[in-house]
Parts: sequence; C-alpha cells; structure tokens
Amino acid sequence: MTKKDSKLDEELPLGRSPGPSWQDLLETDSRAVPDYLRAESPYLNGLDDIPKSRYLSRDWHELEKERLWSRVWQFACREEHLPHVGSYIVYDIADQSYLVVRVSDTEIKAYPNACLHRGRLLKTYDGRCSEFRCPFHGFTWRLDGELKQIPAEWDFPQAAERNLSLPEVKVGCWAGFVFINPDTDCEPLEEFLGPDIQQHFERWDFDNRYLAAHVSRTIRCNWKIANEAFTEGYHVGATHPQAVTYTGDPQSQIDFWGNTARELSPKGIPNPLLNYTPTEEEMLRDALDVRVGEPLPVSFEQGDTLRGVLSAAGRERFRESFGDRVDEITDAEFLDAWNYMVFPNFHPWGAFNRIVYRFRPNGDDHETCVFEIMYLAPFAGERPPPAEVVHLGPDDPWTDAEALEKLGMVVEQDTFNMERVHQGLKVLRRDGIMLSRYQEALIRWRHDLIEAYIARGPVQL
Ligand code: FES
Ligand SMILES: [Fe+2]
Repeated sequence: MTKKDSKLDEELPLGRSPGPSWQDLLETDSRAVPDYLRAESPYLNGLDDIPKSRYLSRDWHELEKERLWSRVWQFACREEHLPHVGSYIVYDIADQSYLVVRVSDTEIKAYPNACLHRGRLLKTYDGRCSEFRCPFHGFTWRLDGELKQIPAEWDFPQAAERNLSLPEVKVGCWAGFVFINPDTDCEPLEEFLGPDIQQHFERWDFDNRYLAAHVSRTIRCNWKIANEAFTEGYHVGATHPQAVTYTGDPQSQIDFWGNTARELSPKGIPNPLLNYTPTEEEMLRDALDVRVGEPLPVSFEQGDTLRGVLSAAGRERFRESFGDRVDEITDAEFLDAWNYMVFPNFHPWGAFNRIVYRFRPNGDDHETCVFEIMYLAPFAGERPPPAEVVHLGPDDPWTDAEALEKLGMVVEQDTFNMERVHQGLKVLRRDGIMLSRYQEALIRWRHDLIEAYIARGPVQL
C-alpha cells in the first residue's frame, strides 16, 4: 500500500479523545484480559481527501467489478446454509452470480452460475438438488461439476473435444462462514485473513452459533457509503443521540491487521461531548431504553455499574451454549461493541455481539446497494434452522423486521443518512470527502486497499 503524507504522520502526535480509553477500561475488568485482545494497531496513512468519484462514477464501479470483486475473498453464506449434500445457495455480486454447493460432508465447491450451452443462469434461488439441470435445454452437471448429460448429444459433435465441466472458483471456510474467490490464483483464505482475527474468533466459537435473523434492504446509495456508516463511531453523538450517555464512541479504539480491522467502542462511559456526567443508573436506563420510574429488567443496587450489571447478564445469556467458560470471559467481551471488519464488505462483530453486516452493490447498479443484517445467536442442543431472509425495499424501515429488535431503530438512524450522503456528494463543491485522522481511519484503510486491488490490473479469469 502506498504511504501518503508520511512526513505529516510522523510529525503529528496521535490525537485521542479525552476520557478513559478502551485500554483504560480493560484495567477495571473483572476478568483477566488476554494480551492478544489488548493489542493496538492504529491505521495511519495520511490526510488526503477521498475522491467523490469513488462513489459516484460508473467507471470506478466497472474497475471494482473487473479488479476487486473478481479477485477478493468474499463472504458468500454460512456453512449452516449448506447442511446436506446437494444444498446450494446462489451468491450474487455486482453482475456476477455463483453457485455454492455442498458436494460431500467435507467439501463445498463453487461455480459461476451459468450453463455452458447457451449461458442461462443455472439456478435463481437457493435449495437442494441431486444435480444441476439447466431449465432451458436440459444440459446436466453432477454436484462436483462434471458434465452428466447433454440431451441429443449426437447433435454436439464438438462436445467430446471440450472440457465441459463447470469451471470452479475458490472456496474457503472460517468460523462457520463460507467465502468464495473468483480468482483461481488467489492466496489461501487463511493467508488473506491473517493470524490475528483467526486467533480472536477462535476464542468465541463462531462455528457454534446459528443464524437467528437475516434481513436485507435495498438502499439508494453506493455500497461503500452504507458500509462506511458502520466503519466509524464518530457519528454516534449526532446520529444516535439516545446513546451518548452510555457509549464512549469517541474513545473507541481503531485497529487493523492487513485485510482485517476492528473498531472497539466502550459501553458504560459517557460520550465526552456530553456536558454533564450521568449516573450509572441513568446510563443503564438509557442503554436498556427504560424510563425513570419504570422497573429495570435487571437487578441494580447502589454501587453497581452498567458495565458490571450488563456483562453479568450477558455472561448468563451465553452460559447454556458456551458452558462455564463464560466465567473466564471478560466484561468487555460481553458488553462493548467489537465491530470487526473483513475487507472489503463484511463485518462479523466479534466477542458476544451477535451482529453481522454485509454490503454489496445492488446487482450492476452502483447507485444502489444491498445492506444485510444478520444475527448469530447461541443455541443449546440441536442447531435451529437458519433464518429465512426478510427482504426490505428502500422505503421499508428496518423496524418492520421484528427479528432485529432494538437494533432496527438504531440502524434506521444510520440509514437515514445514507441516501442523503449519496445525493449530497453530487451537490458537493469539492472533489473529495475529508476524513478524521484516527476515528475515521478505517474508511481510509478500505479505500487504500481497494486502490491497491485496482492498481493490480485486470484479473485473468
Ligand atoms: S442454455 Fe442451458 S441447456 Fe441450453
Ligand atoms: Fe450508527
């Protein structure tokens, strides 16, 4: 990655918000915090503006298709979406479509979703099958991609000389997530993810979560605008004013490791922009959305803290599925926002947060996108089936999806900005957008990586 303004970076001290940092709060944790979770790795790469053409230009979208989506590891589905041999999902990205299928108990494969006869999409919905039979003329492939049958084969004398197996794209699995990469020369998924995120998630046993909610909404903005609304906590004071008493978003810690990053936002401390100091009970009431005078759903005694009370409640919520290992897990893991990001568009929140976000262009349209929210919840006993996707249109509020509970209202506030940012960028009389140095650094991180992918030129598919 090219370093920009490196002189400036070296000369300026790294400014941080007043108030306790996330690291300071860890000192007060009731449990021991492993060193690898305490690591700090800020992203600093200059102060240049980001050209607004990255969001608005069709040419840039074409470059992203040709050089990013065609060669990057991308989250396609959960392993639980493919429970049986023959279970498949259709994964669409921009103008491309892939079939991801369980071929055996131990193998998942993926193919471009197109018939090798005259190109019809093989599947347009998820399901389970014993073979892939094209609905147009009936060319048929086995699950492992080998050609099984051409109807009236006598009329295709050329077929014998051609390789008519379905071409494969790369598949990798991590923490119960299935990824694909269309570039057959790509690095292995483990290398792409790097050791840090893999070590962190191992502690949280993500294989043993189930998809408890899955809601997808079309938004009228470029996919990166939606993604960037969840890449910094700087907006919380203005966009989510109800959270300022108990969320220290300006005190968030920003880290990156290659293609992965995280923003850690502490709960139970007020935003330092607030002009008074709320009590612990006020913070707790705001966090749980319970009015003064109404009973709290958790026991709260004099001297208790929000951090203590809510982390204890979280620990009990996970005890049934996670066992007594919860007693070793820190308060911070049950309480704070562990917003992990895997480049380019995937946010599997870490620790015990449940939340997963994914952002994609809406088909081949760079001016709209599809933003999905998933919940990965603990379970005891038999794995419940994964939630069906609830589809929302651009004007359907997130609060229509009851499965999202309180988060629906919060993300509605975020979504309220997105379309208006896309519109506003067309009005803006500047060439680019300005980013804060520390709090918004991961927006720069993502743009720098996209730039690096694009600089590599087209992929040989
Ligand atoms: S296009 Fe698929 S069999 Fe003809
Ligand atoms: Fe937000």
